[in-house]
Amino acid sequence: MNTTQKVEKKFNNLFGNKNKLVIKSPGRVNLIGEHTDYNEGWVLPASIDKCSTVLLAENNLAHCRIFAYDLDKLFEFKLDTEQTAWGWENYIYGIVKEMQSRGANLSSFDLMVTGEVPFGAGMSSSASIECATAFGLNELFNCGFSRSELAHISQMAEHHFVGVKCGIMDQFTSLMGKDNHCIFLDCKTLDYEYVPLDLGDYKLLLCNTNVSHSLAGSEYNTRREQCLEGVRFLQEQGHDFESLRNVPPELLLRYSEEMERDIFKRCYHVVHENQRVKKAVGILKESKDIRALGEELYQSHHTLSRYYEVSCPELDFLVGETFHHKEITGSRMMGGGFGGCTINIIHQDAIDSFIEETGLKYLKKFGKEMTPYIVTLGDGSRIVD
Ligand code: GLA
Repeated sequence: MNTTQKVEKKFNNLFGNKNKLVIKSPGRVNLIGEHTDYNEGWVLPASIDKCSTVLLAENNLAHCRIFAYDLDKLFEFKLDTEQTAWGWENYIYGIVKEMQSRGANLSSFDLMVTGEVPFGAGMSSSASIECATAFGLNELFNCGFSRSELAHISQMAEHHFVGVKCGIMDQFTSLMGKDNHCIFLDCKTLDYEYVPLDLGDYKLLLCNTNVSHSLAGSEYNTRREQCLEGVRFLQEQGHDFESLRNVPPELLLRYSEEMERDIFKRCYHVVHENQRVKKAVGILKESKDIRALGEELYQSHHTLSRYYEVSCPELDFLVGETFHHKEITGSRMMGGGFGGCTINIIHQDAIDSFIEETGLKYLKKFGKEMTPYIVTLGDGSRIVD
């Protein structure tokens, strides 16, 4: 029995055997463009083949029943009451509330969720649950929201019910992803372009530090505030910027002495990272120069670690280990930071030896396993027959 069949059996036992919708929504990787999304910048993520799966059906009861298969936990709530629970259930409950606040006419339902996106690894397991739920409810109750509206709904569920003021990248990618492509996304306008990810003999390898990050732990929201403070500083100097989106790096540099040090450093990362995203897109579309692409990843890690200060010793170590492997063209921390994975562009022949050698060194230094994942891309949210 595969996982979906097992979950289906559990659903039938718990909620009764009825016609149900089965939805899959993937996690994501991000090639480049970190902490730019909530600054109205650009990102280059891709949806992966690891998904969260949601099974759902109307239940004709006075309340909803939701069950987390992997946690073996049940939660019940009424659609018209306000709950103040703060746990796993908020990813689903938050979607319900956000959809209702936009006029969705929902009835009580049963829902079961299971996930294969590693939790806390920076691969957006939470977004994949939110998006699968939003996509499923939208189908079940014919709400008529577009995919990008569902992405916004899922992002707001995270803001209001999980407490992380995240950008739109993860949810947009989970809903809009396309197999074998990255999404070059303008996070202000939501204009996007699918860019084929053709790395030839190279693969994307994720190395999970197994340091679990908690973005809700205020650091993420603090970074967001600091960027806004940078924008306010520039406005006070007479510049007409509403975000860091169009700030040229040369202009920012003019204020390197006057700006508060930490604020300058946060802005420094963002304005350069935006430029790197556009360069990376150019490389993927034209030269396909994997070394040049890798160099952008290294630069990204440098400013994420030293200027944005969202890395950690384990991530820095794993990136550092790649320097003397010429089969790796680039490496950087991926996602919100403070733990999770590095993303590496590596020649396929070198994958096994790199994993073995680096895994051992990592274990020796930090007393923890490093978990590798070779990335396979996949499609965005979909109904499974
Ligand atoms: C998390 C957030 C995203 C984005 C990244 C950093 O994954 O959910 O919106 O800000 O961090 O790039």
